Amino acid sequence: METDEESQDTPVSEAQIAVHWREEEYYQPPAKFIAQANAGDPSIFERFREERFPECFKEYADLLSWDAYWHTTLDTSNPPFWKWFVGGRLNASFNCVDRHLAASSNKAALIWVPEPEEEETRAITYQELYKRVNEFAALLRDFAGVKIGDRVTFHLPMVPELPVAMLACARLGAIHSQVFGGFSGAACGERIADADSHVLVTMDGFYRNGELLDHKVKADEAIARAHDLGCEVDKVLVWRRRPGQYASKSPMVEGRDFFVDELLPDYRDKLVEPVSMPAEAPLFLMYTSGTTGRPKGCEHSTGGYLAYVAGTSKYYQDIHPEDTYWCFADIGWITGHSYIVYGPLALGTTSVMYEGVPTYPDPGRPWRIAQRLGVDIFHTSPTTVRMLRKVGPDEPAKYDYHFKHMTTVGEPIEPEVWRWYHEVIGKGEAVIVDTWWQTENGGFLGSTLPALQAMKPGSCGPGVLGIYPVIYDENGDEVLAGSGRAGNMCIRNPWPGIFQTIWGQPEKFVDTYYAKYCRDRQSKDWRDWPYFAGDGAVQAADGYFRILGRVDDVINVAGHRLGTKELESASLMVDEVAEAAAVPVIDDIRGRAVEMYVSLKPGVQASEEMSAKVSRAIDTEIGKIARPKNVWIVPDLPKTRSGKIMRRVIAGISNFTDVGDTSTLANPEIVDVIRHHVQKEKAARGEVPRELSREELEEIQSFGSVE
Ligand code: WT7
Repeated sequence: METDEESQDTPVSEAQIAVHWREEEYYQPPAKFIAQANAGDPSIFERFREERFPECFKEYADLLSWDAYWHTTLDTSNPPFWKWFVGGRLNASFNCVDRHLAASSNKAALIWVPEPEEEETRAITYQELYKRVNEFAALLRDFAGVKIGDRVTFHLPMVPELPVAMLACARLGAIHSQVFGGFSGAACGERIADADSHVLVTMDGFYRNGELLDHKVKADEAIARAHDLGCEVDKVLVWRRRPGQYASKSPMVEGRDFFVDELLPDYRDKLVEPVSMPAEAPLFLMYTSGTTGRPKGCEHSTGGYLAYVAGTSKYYQDIHPEDTYWCFADIGWITGHSYIVYGPLALGTTSVMYEGVPTYPDPGRPWRIAQRLGVDIFHTSPTTVRMLRKVGPDEPAKYDYHFKHMTTVGEPIEPEVWRWYHEVIGKGEAVIVDTWWQTENGGFLGSTLPALQAMKPGSCGPGVLGIYPVIYDENGDEVLAGSGRAGNMCIRNPWPGIFQTIWGQPEKFVDTYYAKYCRDRQSKDWRDWPYFAGDGAVQAADGYFRILGRVDDVINVAGHRLGTKELESASLMVDEVAEAAAVPVIDDIRGRAVEMYVSLKPGVQASEEMSAKVSRAIDTEIGKIARPKNVWIVPDLPKTRSGKIMRRVIAGISNFTDVGDTSTLANPEIVDVIRHHVQKEKAARGEVPRELSREELEEIQSFGSVE
């Protein structure tokens, strides 16, 4: 345990992040899981060992059907714009649909669960998916004029029309760009303009928390914003959530807006030949936020991406064609693209999609879905797990479902929460993989191979097959496994799923991800171009990585860099705590002090004693240096629609600064509630705000990577 005195004796350099994690116990995969696993033979590690790079990835590419085989596995002639499987040609829609018809035409490809529970679940067979994809591809081509290489923007909710539209674009060799349905019209418009799309595919409305939301209004805002940015949308194709019934108040604009259900009869049973695309042709754009304003359109390839998601779905998700696989994420994120649509469908399995929120109409909903459909693989995020633990801890036991495998993705999971996921949601029967990766990466980078590597709560595991991670310090020196020191998580080698560039911003692509540790800008050897992920991490002696969060999410207390995640994990050791967020508060003595915001499980009363318990847990787990200045107990934390806590908003409250834009929050109303409570208390405790310098203000207002 670190103490104030110790940290004075042995100052921690700026380049390090203090690490105080306790080693966790291993959990072994159940024998029943091992017996059926796709990767059950340790010889797989031999096949993917570094000496066999890049040829090892042939194994993934061979999971696909190619029109023409490639001549060069990895072309490094223009670093870091790597090209995989060069010379190969294929079509992603053919690979996800057509090729399954011979053996499984009437097996369910997708099972869609609408949010209203009285509405029937819809199974779409591979044959039906084939028909729908062809018909919509014909409509896009012949009605909307979509050609090879055109960008088509979608602003669709979680409905089967979304995978249909994705696969229809892929069939034509057009590039799709799905904007998360929960984003605003303006955000959609910016992405339309950035991609220079002239066709928008949307829906009139969708169900969320029991309400049929008007979504078409956002299309009007999007088109106006795109127009202001110099991009004209010619056609808006509007699906109707209930065909024939229009759910929006927004008028249909003559000559621009068209109901898809009215156009489709003209394309009934039309077939469109899948366009044979070069492996390195872009398949889609997925926008992600960076630290500066302009969104980054991550461009993903056809052959490399599809091979990578098929391979990782097979070995890490353990998907067999007979499984019923449910990835409880939104297709509007990379997780949904890779692990609801492309990976599972490339393997010919049944992929479940759910329209609504996890707790509608009550927190038993996910388990009723799992029981009813016989789901055996379940994939979700720590934030969903924490929410279900908070509001429905007794629900899983009431339902008769059995998972063989579960996944977590998106942020580090606290060991306490992991154990709850394992015991309560997984009923102690399922293997868990914690998968670390990013929008930019296409697929998993850090995880355990479920039958062959033990689980360790809070750690994602080692690099996945064919991925060779390394932790570098600020000077580019390697931080060794087992040293207890943290540093910057990097990947030494290229891999097939890596994005090809940031759409329209190739310099930013190089600067953001490769400039930091590039050894020689002239070099054409991939070994000189490590990929900088922007995450802090520590590697245990066993080779497992523990991700501390984004490197810009650290709180520097008296020269001691504390990861927000470990402060939050320590708070979650207190049984009554449901969620926690750590933020810095400017402190004239320590530079920064920590403030914690926690929400409690239902039925637990806020009290001084609860705050003291959280402080004590941090004392015990991390040390006095990290003891929070204040622990605020709040009813809920401000979160984005994807569930990420917006730390900069509460950091603004703690520091009496402007909280900035809160329009992208899922729960903007909470901000005033928290501000009122916290600032009143601070005044009572005699904490008077002081004027902040420009740098200090900037740090607070950009704290946390979420925008
Ligand atoms: C960032 C990427 C990958 C799809 C969803 C998020 C954090 C992601 C984990 C994990 C610890 C994780 C990282 C990463 N992250 N997965 N299993 N353990 N941290 O994609 O929005 O691009 O976010 O999420 O900080 O850099 P994204």
